[in-house]
Amino acid sequence: MPMTHRTANVRLLRQSVPELDADLVVVPVCDHDELSDVPGLAQASSGEALTARTRGAFSGKPFESLVLGTQGAGWRAPRVALVGVGPAAACTADILRRVATIGGLTARAHRLGRVAVLMRASIGVAPEVAAQALAEGVLLANYDGASLKTADHAPGWLEEVAIAGLDGGAALDAAVARGVILGEATNHARELANEPGNRLTPRVFAERGAALAAAAGLGVEVLDETRIAELKMGLLLSIAQGSQEPPRVLVLRHEPAGAVSNVTLGLVGKGITFDTGGISIKPADNMDKMKDDMSGGAAVIAAMAAIARLNVPVRCIGVVPMTENMPGGRAIKPGDVVTSAEGKTVEILNTDAEGRLVLGDALWYARQLGATHLIDLATLTGACVVALGKTTSGLFGRPQVWLDRVHDATRRAGDRAWPMPIFDDYKDLLKSEIADFTNTGGRAGGAITAALFIKEFAGDLPWAHLDIAGTAWAEEAKPYQPKGATGVGVRTLVELALNVPSWAGASTR
Ligand code: BES
Ligand code: MN
Ligand code: ZN
Repeated sequence: MPMTHRTANVRLLRQSVPELDADLVVVPVCDHDELSDVPGLAQASSGEALTARTRGAFSGKPFESLVLGTQGAGWRAPRVALVGVGPAAACTADILRRVATIGGLTARAHRLGRVAVLMRASIGVAPEVAAQALAEGVLLANYDGASLKTADHAPGWLEEVAIAGLDGGAALDAAVARGVILGEATNHARELANEPGNRLTPRVFAERGAALAAAAGLGVEVLDETRIAELKMGLLLSIAQGSQEPPRVLVLRHEPAGAVSNVTLGLVGKGITFDTGGISIKPADNMDKMKDDMSGGAAVIAAMAAIARLNVPVRCIGVVPMTENMPGGRAIKPGDVVTSAEGKTVEILNTDAEGRLVLGDALWYARQLGATHLIDLATLTGACVVALGKTTSGLFGRPQVWLDRVHDATRRAGDRAWPMPIFDDYKDLLKSEIADFTNTGGRAGGAITAALFIKEFAGDLPWAHLDIAGTAWAEEAKPYQPKGATGVGVRTLVELALNVPSWAGASTR
């Protein structure tokens, strides 16, 4: 298996900056920042840190960075990376996470394995929130997307990381530990979503998901094609029948002792390991990107593993339907009518609208297993990318309280999402002459009609749907984010679970 990411030993260090024993100290720098609280920095390399700003080499704008030597500062660390954060008053956990990633990537680019990241007192982010965000950000830097290269490729890794400048008790150490697990989980999802479709078939996806989950202590069950047929999951089977590769459904369970009594989260993720479109085949341009069509499923697997590792006292069920969407000789054809496990009939007008079909049966199954609150993640529609672009996911569902909880979780996670409507009026677009409904509603409002289709399979439960078609894959690298799979949604799901005890009923013990 390729080495795409590594963990690092991340600790909170209660030492002063000159004492920090690291190859590189990462210092967030705000607008109009005199750096007077960082001892020695003004003297470092004859005042280079301050004069770089007057020369315009480094302005302190968000995500700008500059590496300097620290000669003359009296530090143990030989180098410092200044990373811009913009106005101190506007600095958020989000910005700190990105600053830490930039610091970590900078260290790796210089092949420096031991970094310290400094939190500044001038930044008004609560210590626990900052500690978690900085740890997350550093771990996100320990990811390498070029792991299948066999020549001239030996990435450096972060080994030892110190978070400095924060004072506090055990809660801060716990926040760092949480950040590490969340960062690693995001990297696990990125690794799976970056994996090419020939390497990550449904069977391999199920195996690797099962291994990741079992190592984290989750209950694991893999439904094979026979079991899927017994359950009459006709929507999933209809997509799978066009491929030589059999489908799978990965079922993960987190059932901690002392869990809150009245909530079981049902996390469902689209797991199309490659989407050709089927008989309604896609154009050749950019079809290669469709290897990421299992990003929602990868997010559910990685998040479930993190939820287990964090011992979150909330029951969670993960369901990931896995198949290819291929135009084989037995593939479904436009006009075919298929029957879902729940018994509803669907007229398939476009075989490229496959995600909503596999999710329909998976949401039904999550309800059968006892979920009380549903959330699904899916690279579902190009229409959502048109509506919201590449950095914001579409948020759909009901009722409002549940959507608000999910939206809040996306904010804590640093995953952007924005509410979209699901008015009943749109349902006319899914009317079929011969079946209960069609699987497409045309171009207009395409992300909304897709959501309304999925809603048919959520029963009466609170349900949220995140369309991550735009956000799952970064077309270009940013200073804080590599090109490729982003791991969007992983931290949202974990933050959502972590928050359940604050609003759900008391423990059963
Ligand atoms: N996986 C695609 C959606 C997608 C498109 C994700 C672009 C990322 C980038 C999905 O299965 C799909 O093909 N959707 C169709 C639906 C249409 C046929 C109603 C689409 O968006 O074109
Ligand atoms: Mn498709
Ligand atoms: Zn798809």
